Amino acid sequence: MSLDATLNLFRAIGEETRLRVMILLLRGELTVSELTQILGQSQPRVSRHLKILADAGLVERYREGAWVFYRAAEEGDGASVAGAVLAALKSFGEVDDRVVARDRERFRQSREARARAAAAYFEANAAEWDRVRKLHLPEPDIEQRMRALIGEQRVGLFVDLGTGTGRMLEIFADRFESGVGFDLSREMLSVARANLDRAGVHNAQVRQGDLFSLPLETGSADLVCLHQVLHFLAEPGAAVKEAARLLKPGGRLIISDFAPHELEFLREEHAHRRLGFSDEEVAGWRRASGLDLLASETLSPQSDDGKKLTVKIWVLGAPAEVRRLKSRASAA
Ligand SMILES: C[S@@+](CC[C@H](N)C(=O)[O-])C[C@H]1O[C@@H](n2cnc3c(N)ncnc32)[C@H](O)[C@@H]1O
Repeated sequence: MSLDATLNLFRAIGEETRLRVMILLLRGELTVSELTQILGQSQPRVSRHLKILADAGLVERYREGAWVFYRAAEEGDGASVAGAVLAALKSFGEVDDRVVARDRERFRQSREARARAAAAYFEANAAEWDRVRKLHLPEPDIEQRMRALIGEQRVGLFVDLGTGTGRMLEIFADRFESGVGFDLSREMLSVARANLDRAGVHNAQVRQGDLFSLPLETGSADLVCLHQVLHFLAEPGAAVKEAARLLKPGGRLIISDFAPHELEFLREEHAHRRLGFSDEEVAGWRRASGLDLLASETLSPQSDDGKKLTVKIWVLGAPAEVRRLKSRASAA
Protein backbone atom coordinates (compact mmCIF):
# COMPACT_ATOMS: atom_id res chain seq x y z
CA MET A 1 0.00 0.00 0.00
CA SER A 2 1.36 3.47 -0.89
CA LEU A 3 2.26 6.02 1.78
CA ASP A 4 -0.44 8.36 0.38
CA ALA A 5 -3.14 5.71 0.60
CA THR A 6 -2.04 4.82 4.13
CA LEU A 7 -2.16 8.47 5.17
CA ASN A 8 -5.60 8.85 3.57
CA LEU A 9 -6.90 5.96 5.60
CA PHE A 10 -5.64 7.37 8.87
CA ARG A 11 -6.77 10.91 7.98
CA ALA A 12 -10.22 9.56 7.19
CA ILE A 13 -10.59 8.00 10.58
CA GLY A 14 -8.66 10.70 12.47
CA GLU A 15 -11.59 13.12 12.77
CA GLU A 16 -14.21 13.23 15.49
CA THR A 17 -17.45 12.75 13.51
CA ARG A 18 -15.91 10.12 11.28
CA LEU A 19 -14.58 8.16 14.24
CA ARG A 20 -18.07 8.36 15.78
CA VAL A 21 -19.53 7.07 12.50
CA MET A 22 -17.06 4.17 12.49
CA ILE A 23 -17.87 3.31 16.11
CA LEU A 24 -21.57 3.21 15.16
CA LEU A 25 -21.12 1.21 11.95
CA LEU A 26 -19.01 -1.36 13.77
CA ARG A 27 -22.16 -1.99 15.84
CA GLY A 28 -24.34 -2.52 12.79
CA GLU A 29 -25.35 -1.17 9.40
CA LEU A 30 -27.27 2.10 9.23
CA THR A 31 -29.03 4.20 6.63
CA VAL A 32 -27.97 7.81 6.06
CA SER A 33 -31.14 9.09 7.69
CA GLU A 34 -30.57 6.92 10.78
CA LEU A 35 -26.99 8.21 11.00
CA THR A 36 -28.23 11.78 10.59
CA GLN A 37 -30.64 11.35 13.51
CA ILE A 38 -28.10 9.64 15.75
CA LEU A 39 -25.30 12.15 15.12
CA GLY A 40 -27.60 15.19 15.22
CA GLN A 41 -25.94 16.62 12.09
CA SER A 42 -27.34 17.67 8.73
CA GLN A 43 -27.67 15.10 5.99
CA PRO A 44 -25.19 16.86 3.60
CA ARG A 45 -22.60 16.94 6.38
CA VAL A 46 -23.07 13.30 7.27
CA SER A 47 -22.97 12.35 3.59
CA ARG A 48 -19.69 14.25 3.16
CA HIS A 49 -18.10 12.34 6.04
CA LEU A 50 -19.45 9.06 4.71
CA LYS A 51 -17.96 9.75 1.30
CA ILE A 52 -14.52 10.31 2.84
CA LEU A 53 -14.81 7.06 4.79
CA ALA A 54 -16.05 5.19 1.71
CA ASP A 55 -13.28 6.63 -0.51
CA ALA A 56 -10.71 5.45 2.03
CA GLY A 57 -12.24 1.96 1.92
CA LEU A 58 -13.32 2.05 5.57
CA VAL A 59 -17.04 1.76 4.89
CA GLU A 60 -19.12 0.10 2.21
CA ARG A 61 -22.20 1.69 0.72
CA TYR A 62 -25.05 0.00 -0.99
CA ARG A 63 -28.26 1.33 -2.39
CA GLU A 64 -31.41 -0.69 -2.17
CA GLY A 65 -34.46 1.01 -3.65
CA ALA A 66 -34.88 4.41 -2.03
CA TRP A 67 -32.62 3.59 0.94
CA VAL A 68 -28.83 3.72 1.09
CA PHE A 69 -27.14 1.55 3.72
CA TYR A 70 -23.63 1.93 5.12
CA ARG A 71 -21.61 -0.67 6.96
CA ALA A 72 -18.01 -1.14 8.10
CA ALA A 73 -15.89 -2.54 5.26
CA GLU A 74 -15.47 -6.29 5.30
CA GLU A 75 -12.81 -6.59 2.61
CA GLY A 76 -9.61 -4.76 1.64
CA ASP A 77 -7.16 -2.58 3.57
CA GLY A 78 -9.99 -0.46 5.00
CA ALA A 79 -11.46 -3.61 6.55
CA SER A 80 -8.13 -4.34 8.30
CA VAL A 81 -8.13 -0.85 9.79
CA ALA A 82 -11.82 -1.18 10.73
CA GLY A 83 -10.93 -4.50 12.40
CA ALA A 84 -8.07 -2.82 14.27
CA VAL A 85 -10.41 -0.04 15.44
CA LEU A 86 -12.84 -2.67 16.65
CA ALA A 87 -10.09 -4.53 18.52
CA ALA A 88 -8.95 -1.25 20.10
CA LEU A 89 -12.51 -0.37 21.14
CA LYS A 90 -12.91 -3.78 22.72
CA SER A 91 -9.69 -3.45 24.66
CA PHE A 92 -10.69 0.06 25.88
CA GLY A 93 -13.96 -1.43 27.14
CA GLU A 94 -16.05 1.49 25.91
CA VAL A 95 -14.85 4.86 24.67
CA ASP A 96 -15.44 6.96 27.73
CA ASP A 97 -16.98 10.07 26.25
CA ARG A 98 -20.32 11.85 26.69
CA VAL A 99 -20.93 12.30 22.95
CA VAL A 100 -20.03 8.69 22.10
CA ALA A 101 -22.28 7.47 24.93
CA ARG A 102 -25.15 9.57 23.53
CA ASP A 103 -24.54 8.12 20.03
CA ARG A 104 -24.66 4.64 21.52
CA GLU A 105 -27.94 5.40 23.30
CA ARG A 106 -29.47 6.88 20.13
CA PHE A 107 -28.32 3.86 18.13
CA ARG A 108 -30.13 1.64 20.62
CA GLN A 109 -33.26 3.83 20.44
CA SER A 110 -33.20 3.77 16.64
CA ARG A 111 -33.02 -0.03 16.62
CA GLU A 112 -35.80 -0.23 19.19
CA ALA A 113 -38.03 2.12 17.21
CA ARG A 114 -37.62 -0.03 14.11
CA ALA A 115 -38.28 -3.24 16.03
CA ARG A 116 -41.40 -1.62 17.57
CA ALA A 117 -42.71 -0.60 14.14
CA ALA A 118 -42.22 -4.15 12.83
CA ALA A 119 -43.79 -5.66 15.98
CA ALA A 120 -46.81 -3.34 15.64
CA TYR A 121 -47.21 -4.48 12.05
CA PHE A 122 -47.13 -8.15 13.06
CA GLU A 123 -49.54 -7.62 15.92
CA ALA A 124 -51.97 -5.88 13.60
CA ASN A 125 -51.59 -8.58 10.97
CA ALA A 126 -51.23 -11.76 13.02
CA ALA A 127 -54.61 -13.23 12.13
CA GLU A 128 -54.29 -12.16 8.54
CA TRP A 129 -50.67 -13.08 8.02
CA ASP A 130 -51.21 -16.34 6.20
CA ARG A 131 -53.36 -14.45 3.72
CA VAL A 132 -50.85 -11.60 3.35
CA ARG A 133 -47.99 -13.98 2.58
CA LYS A 134 -50.02 -15.66 -0.14
CA LEU A 135 -50.28 -12.34 -1.94
CA HIS A 136 -46.58 -12.34 -2.61
CA LEU A 137 -45.72 -15.78 -3.89
CA PRO A 138 -46.96 -19.29 -4.62
CA GLU A 139 -46.51 -20.75 -1.13
CA PRO A 140 -47.23 -24.43 -1.85
CA ASP A 141 -44.47 -24.52 -4.49
CA ILE A 142 -41.96 -23.04 -2.09
CA GLU A 143 -42.93 -25.33 0.76
CA GLN A 144 -42.64 -28.33 -1.51
CA ARG A 145 -39.14 -27.24 -2.64
CA MET A 146 -38.07 -26.66 0.95
CA ARG A 147 -39.22 -30.16 1.94
CA ALA A 148 -37.43 -31.67 -1.05
CA LEU A 149 -34.21 -29.86 -0.19
CA ILE A 150 -34.33 -31.04 3.41
CA GLY A 151 -34.92 -34.63 2.39
CA GLU A 152 -37.04 -37.33 3.94
CA GLN A 153 -34.79 -38.37 6.77
CA ARG A 154 -36.15 -37.31 10.16
CA VAL A 155 -33.95 -35.04 12.27
CA GLY A 156 -33.85 -34.59 16.03
CA LEU A 157 -34.40 -30.94 16.97
CA PHE A 158 -35.91 -28.47 14.49
CA VAL A 159 -35.83 -24.76 15.40
CA ASP A 160 -37.92 -22.22 13.52
CA LEU A 161 -36.78 -18.62 14.00
CA GLY A 162 -39.47 -15.95 13.60
CA THR A 163 -42.05 -18.70 13.46
CA GLY A 164 -45.03 -16.32 13.01
CA THR A 165 -48.14 -18.45 12.58
CA GLY A 166 -46.09 -21.65 12.96
CA ARG A 167 -46.40 -22.66 9.32
CA MET A 168 -42.86 -24.07 9.06
CA LEU A 169 -43.41 -26.22 12.17
CA GLU A 170 -46.53 -27.54 10.52
CA ILE A 171 -44.99 -28.41 7.14
CA PHE A 172 -41.84 -29.97 8.62
CA ALA A 173 -43.62 -31.77 11.50
CA ASP A 174 -43.14 -35.21 9.93
CA ARG A 175 -39.40 -34.53 9.48
CA PHE A 176 -38.41 -33.89 13.11
CA GLU A 177 -38.63 -35.56 16.51
CA SER A 178 -39.25 -32.28 18.27
CA GLY A 179 -39.68 -28.74 17.05
CA VAL A 180 -39.63 -25.33 18.67
CA GLY A 181 -40.56 -22.02 17.10
CA PHE A 182 -39.55 -18.63 18.50
CA ASP A 183 -41.23 -15.32 17.85
CA LEU A 184 -41.32 -11.93 19.55
CA SER A 185 -45.00 -11.36 18.91
CA ARG A 186 -47.46 -12.85 21.39
CA GLU A 187 -50.28 -12.40 18.89
CA MET A 188 -48.40 -14.40 16.26
CA LEU A 189 -47.68 -17.08 18.84
CA SER A 190 -51.31 -17.44 19.83
CA VAL A 191 -52.27 -17.88 16.17
CA ALA A 192 -49.40 -20.41 15.83
CA ARG A 193 -50.64 -22.41 18.84
CA ALA A 194 -54.16 -22.54 17.39
CA ASN A 195 -52.81 -23.58 13.95
CA LEU A 196 -50.62 -26.35 15.40
CA ASP A 197 -53.53 -27.67 17.46
CA ARG A 198 -55.82 -27.61 14.48
CA ALA A 199 -53.22 -29.40 12.32
CA GLY A 200 -52.70 -32.04 15.04
CA VAL A 201 -48.99 -31.23 15.42
CA HIS A 202 -48.02 -32.55 18.85
CA ASN A 203 -44.24 -32.68 18.51
CA ALA A 204 -43.75 -28.90 18.30
CA GLN A 205 -44.14 -25.96 20.65
CA VAL A 206 -43.76 -22.22 20.27
CA ARG A 207 -42.10 -19.83 22.69
CA GLN A 208 -41.64 -16.14 22.93
CA GLY A 209 -38.02 -15.24 22.27
CA ASP A 210 -35.69 -12.95 20.38
CA LEU A 211 -33.99 -14.74 17.51
CA PHE A 212 -30.81 -12.73 18.11
CA SER A 213 -30.27 -14.34 21.51
CA LEU A 214 -32.07 -17.60 21.96
CA PRO A 215 -32.35 -19.57 25.17
CA LEU A 216 -30.95 -22.69 23.51
CA GLU A 217 -27.58 -24.31 23.93
CA THR A 218 -24.84 -23.95 21.36
CA GLY A 219 -24.76 -26.99 19.05
CA SER A 220 -28.19 -28.28 20.05
CA ALA A 221 -30.17 -28.16 16.77
CA ASP A 222 -30.16 -30.43 13.73
CA LEU A 223 -32.12 -28.11 11.49
CA VAL A 224 -32.81 -24.38 11.82
CA CYS A 225 -35.21 -22.44 9.62
CA LEU A 226 -35.41 -18.74 8.71
CA HIS A 227 -38.41 -18.46 6.41
CA GLN A 228 -39.41 -14.95 5.29
CA VAL A 229 -37.85 -13.34 8.34
CA LEU A 230 -34.49 -11.83 7.37
CA HIS A 231 -35.92 -8.97 5.29
CA PHE A 232 -37.58 -7.54 8.43
CA LEU A 233 -34.35 -7.38 10.42
CA ALA A 234 -31.82 -4.61 10.89
CA GLU A 235 -29.03 -7.18 11.30
CA PRO A 236 -29.83 -10.20 9.12
CA GLY A 237 -26.20 -11.36 9.27
CA ALA A 238 -26.35 -11.46 13.08
CA ALA A 239 -29.50 -13.62 12.86
CA VAL A 240 -27.62 -16.08 10.62
CA LYS A 241 -24.77 -16.10 13.11
CA GLU A 242 -27.13 -16.93 15.98
CA ALA A 243 -28.73 -19.67 13.85
CA ALA A 244 -25.25 -21.07 13.12
CA ARG A 245 -24.47 -21.08 16.84
CA LEU A 246 -27.43 -23.37 17.44
CA LEU A 247 -26.36 -25.96 14.87
CA LYS A 248 -24.79 -29.27 15.78
CA PRO A 249 -21.75 -30.20 13.69
CA GLY A 250 -23.29 -31.41 10.44
CA GLY A 251 -26.56 -29.55 11.16
CA ARG A 252 -28.29 -27.45 8.54
CA LEU A 253 -29.83 -24.00 8.23
CA ILE A 254 -32.53 -23.44 5.61
CA ILE A 255 -33.19 -19.83 4.63
CA SER A 256 -35.99 -18.77 2.35
CA ASP A 257 -36.32 -15.12 1.41
CA PHE A 258 -36.67 -12.83 -1.57
CA ALA A 259 -34.07 -12.24 -4.26
CA PRO A 260 -33.22 -8.52 -4.69
CA HIS A 261 -36.33 -6.63 -5.88
CA GLU A 262 -37.70 -3.11 -6.23
CA LEU A 263 -41.10 -3.28 -4.55
CA GLU A 264 -40.61 -0.28 -2.31
CA PHE A 265 -44.24 -0.42 -1.06
CA LEU A 266 -43.30 -3.50 0.98
CA ARG A 267 -41.34 -1.14 3.21
CA GLU A 268 -44.17 1.30 3.77
CA GLU A 269 -47.05 -1.15 3.93
CA HIS A 270 -45.47 -4.33 5.23
CA ALA A 271 -42.59 -3.23 7.47
CA HIS A 272 -39.88 -4.75 5.27
CA ARG A 273 -36.45 -3.25 5.87
CA ARG A 274 -34.51 -5.00 3.12
CA LEU A 275 -35.62 -5.49 -0.49
CA GLY A 276 -34.34 -9.05 -0.82
CA PHE A 277 -30.85 -10.53 -0.69
CA SER A 278 -28.25 -11.48 -3.27
CA ASP A 279 -26.29 -14.74 -3.26
CA GLU A 280 -23.16 -12.67 -2.51
CA GLU A 281 -24.65 -11.15 0.62
CA VAL A 282 -25.76 -14.55 1.89
CA ALA A 283 -22.30 -15.92 1.08
CA GLY A 284 -20.76 -13.18 3.26
CA TRP A 285 -22.92 -14.13 6.28
CA ARG A 286 -22.29 -17.81 5.62
CA ARG A 287 -18.51 -17.36 5.64
CA ALA A 288 -18.62 -15.15 8.73
CA SER A 289 -20.67 -17.85 10.51
CA GLY A 290 -18.44 -20.72 9.40
CA LEU A 291 -21.14 -22.45 7.32
CA ASP A 292 -20.90 -24.18 3.94
CA LEU A 293 -23.32 -23.76 1.05
CA LEU A 294 -25.06 -27.09 0.49
CA ALA A 295 -27.73 -26.03 -2.02
CA SER A 296 -29.58 -23.02 -3.36
CA GLU A 297 -32.63 -22.60 -5.54
CA THR A 298 -34.28 -19.73 -7.34
CA LEU A 299 -38.06 -19.81 -7.66
CA SER A 300 -39.13 -17.23 -10.20
CA PRO A 301 -42.69 -15.90 -10.27
CA GLN A 302 -45.06 -17.51 -12.74
CA SER A 303 -46.86 -14.32 -13.71
CA ASP A 304 -45.66 -10.85 -14.42
CA ASP A 305 -48.56 -8.97 -12.81
CA GLY A 306 -46.52 -6.33 -10.98
CA LYS A 307 -46.10 -8.41 -7.80
CA LYS A 308 -42.91 -9.87 -9.11
CA LEU A 309 -41.04 -11.48 -6.30
CA THR A 310 -38.47 -14.16 -6.87
CA VAL A 311 -37.97 -16.43 -3.89
CA LYS A 312 -34.57 -17.89 -3.03
CA ILE A 313 -33.85 -20.88 -0.85
CA TRP A 314 -30.38 -21.43 0.57
CA VAL A 315 -29.39 -24.52 2.53
CA LEU A 316 -26.26 -23.96 4.63
CA GLY A 317 -24.45 -26.59 6.61
CA ALA A 318 -22.32 -26.56 9.74
CA PRO A 319 -19.13 -28.49 9.04
CA ALA A 320 -18.94 -31.90 10.66
CA GLU A 321 -15.99 -30.64 12.70
CA VAL A 322 -16.49 -27.50 14.73
CA ARG A 323 -14.60 -24.52 13.36
CA ARG A 324 -13.87 -21.35 15.19
CA LEU A 325 -16.50 -18.78 14.30
CA LYS A 326 -15.28 -15.43 13.07
CA SER A 327 -17.14 -12.97 15.24
CA ARG A 328 -17.70 -9.35 14.58
CA ALA A 329 -21.33 -9.04 15.64
CA SER A 330 -20.50 -8.65 19.31
CA ALA A 331 -18.79 -5.43 18.39
CA ALA A 332 -17.96 -2.41 20.49
C1 LIG B 1 -43.07 -12.63 7.93
S1 LIG B 1 -43.25 -13.37 9.43
C2 LIG B 1 -42.74 -15.00 8.93
C3 LIG B 1 -43.29 -16.03 9.76
C4 LIG B 1 -42.95 -17.47 9.42
N1 LIG B 1 -41.51 -17.73 9.41
C5 LIG B 1 -43.61 -17.91 8.18
O1 LIG B 1 -42.94 -18.26 7.25
O2 LIG B 1 -44.82 -17.90 8.13
C6 LIG B 1 -41.83 -12.79 10.34
C7 LIG B 1 -41.90 -13.10 11.81
O3 LIG B 1 -40.66 -12.76 12.41
C8 LIG B 1 -40.93 -12.31 13.72
N2 LIG B 1 -39.79 -11.57 14.22
C9 LIG B 1 -39.29 -10.38 13.78
N3 LIG B 1 -38.21 -10.04 14.50
C10 LIG B 1 -38.00 -11.04 15.40
C11 LIG B 1 -37.03 -11.27 16.42
N4 LIG B 1 -36.04 -10.39 16.65
N5 LIG B 1 -37.12 -12.39 17.15
C12 LIG B 1 -38.12 -13.28 16.94
N6 LIG B 1 -39.07 -13.11 16.00
C13 LIG B 1 -39.01 -12.01 15.23
C14 LIG B 1 -42.18 -11.47 13.57
O4 LIG B 1 -42.88 -11.29 14.80
C15 LIG B 1 -42.97 -12.31 12.55
O5 LIG B 1 -43.86 -13.16 13.17
